[in-house]
Amino acid sequence: MKNIYLNIFPFNKKILGKIVILLKKNKIIGLPTETVYGLAGNAYSKSSINKIYKLKKRPKYNPLIIHYFDLNRALKDIEINSNFKKIYKKFGPGPITYILKRKINSKIVSNASANLKTIAVRFPKHKNLRSILKKLNFPLAMPSANISSKVSPVKATDVYDEFKDKLKIIIDGGKSKIGIESTVIDLTRDPKLLRPGIISHLKIQKILKEKIKTNLKISKINSPGLQKKHYSPGIPVLINQKKPVKNSAFIYLGNKYTNRKNFFSLSKKSNLKEAASNLYMLFRKIKKMGFKKIQIQKIPKRGPGLAINDRIKKAAYN
Ligand code: TXA
Ligand code: MG
Repeated sequence: MKNIYLNIFPFNKKILGKIVILLKKNKIIGLPTETVYGLAGNAYSKSSINKIYKLKKRPKYNPLIIHYFDLNRALKDIEINSNFKKIYKKFGPGPITYILKRKINSKIVSNASANLKTIAVRFPKHKNLRSILKKLNFPLAMPSANISSKVSPVKATDVYDEFKDKLKIIIDGGKSKIGIESTVIDLTRDPKLLRPGIISHLKIQKILKEKIKTNLKISKINSPGLQKKHYSPGIPVLINQKKPVKNSAFIYLGNKYTNRKNFFSLSKKSNLKEAASNLYMLFRKIKKMGFKKIQIQKIPKRGPGLAINDRIKKAAYN
């Protein structure tokens, strides 16, 4: 099939060179990560940060995650502590974001973190992204590559659907392995989970040997990104559904309805990790197929099921 996407490219040495030049010129590009696709820009450049907010139509009070190649580079911008060290030792680099104190002489553009005294940092694992980060002398601010409050992209073509030709380069890294956004944990005080992810708070509790707060109360000051409405596929979503209704798409776990066309399985083996990785892909697919409503069966609240429930609850909010 002919590639109709003129701004989608596979990753290779040549494109790496181009990406580095564009990012140095404060341009914004679409990149794969192991969680979801991101909209990347120079975190030390005010004009890059402004472009990201504008492209995403993101409210200025909602800060961005700063992505680093390694801890050594991050130490210029943030203060670390013992809880961070313990978690990082086990999970870094990987799908987890740490909220830490900003260093006074940090070069991160202040409005990238909504002028807060804290910075969200992540050390991604994705190979292509790491080879890009390695070549830069600045970290990348990188929110999920979707218009604010919409579903995060898990394929290069999803990023295209959001921004069309407004991006010069979107790197095609295939379907995102994890498929939902990173776990976000605030480590500036008693550890507090701000966004559930594939690394659950239970796993983190085990490492820290202390209880983690998980009370996700909406507060603009502590967790600016925790809006109630989020991850919206653009059609109504109903959760904890038992019976399919006419003309709606029914999302479920298992293989009970494999031959019926309005039914979409998150995981035929009822594996919750696989289910998480398919959620956003199914949301987009169902919307594209023209369904007017999404019904979702009850999803178990264990392991990755906790993160799935967080996302579908917000998708269902109206
Ligand atoms: O998996 C991910 O984290 C993806 C990929 C691209 O890395 N990125 C991502 O970014 O999900 P974004 O901008 O869509 O979500 C960032 C979340 C928001 O909920 C935001 O409020 C929170 O992190 N956040 C960022 N800085 C914060 C801070 N200083 N304090 C509290 N929350 C913060
Ligand atoms: Mg997002």
